[in-house]
Amino acid sequence: MSPIDKVSNLKIPQHVAIIMDGNGRWAIGRGLPRLAGHRAGTENLRRIITASVEFGIRHLTIYAFSTENWGRPREEVDGLMRILEDVIDRELAELNKEGVRLRHIGRLERLDPKIQEKVLEAIDLTKNNDRLNLHVAFNYGGRDEIVCAIQKILRDAVSPEAVTAELVSKYLFTAGIPDPDLIIRTSGELRISNFLIWQAAYSEWYITPTYWPDFDKGEYLKALEAFNKRDRRYGGLSENAKE
Ligand code: IPE
Ligand code: IPE
Ligand code: MG
Repeated sequence: MSPIDKVSNLKIPQHVAIIMDGNGRWAIGRGLPRLAGHRAGTENLRRIITASVEFGIRHLTIYAFSTENWGRPREEVDGLMRILEDVIDRELAELNKEGVRLRHIGRLERLDPKIQEKVLEAIDLTKNNDRLNLHVAFNYGGRDEIVCAIQKILRDAVSPEAVTAELVSKYLFTAGIPDPDLIIRTSGELRISNFLIWQAAYSEWYITPTYWPDFDKGEYLKALEAFNKRDRRYGGLSENAKE
């Protein structure tokens, strides 16, 4: 059966979020510099975006650079910034054709003004697309997002009684985006690494030892199949346990 035949039998999650991890180890294992791993990871991302469009996923969030990744050597940080610029230059027209709407979560302010401008242009160019919403978490941190939300809530002088989970969600970078149904982490690490810590409250996790550059469409499909076998109870009981 081809991947697309298999997928037609599956319940497709509305929102998939991916921690694209393992680029560095992928490269080192091949005797290459870490940045070669990031380049390979970016090529893979292109394939996974196309697969997401084919699978009918509505929201895809990708963790590309965390607020903690600034702590890496200067050369790697600069390389990652260059890769972001190159991806926008190279891929934007094609993504736009595929109906991808690009959005950013995180803080743009700390990025080079030239990159900020490119990101904003990409968001503007694709704003009327509606096949796949691609949320790029770049200079994103879950704690930073919550701190930022609290600051905004206080600035708006919201009364304590009005603060509800719904209200907090509206003050996050992800306002209006449904919570992720499925979070995939490649490279086998069993941690959240400051990704969507509020939104992941009831997400299903799929962790694979595969490094991100090798996470292909077949692996993606395996993650979707695993998701289909989950019993999401949200603290209640499963449908068949209620009688
Ligand atoms: C993920 O790959 C990409 C970023 C964090 C930017 P890593 O660079 O973390 O790869 P490993 O975990 O060192 O192998
Ligand atoms: C998480 O991976 C961040 C991204 C994939 C962008 P890290 O490699 O930075 O996470 P830790 O350091 O292993 O927790
Ligand atoms: Mg890593």
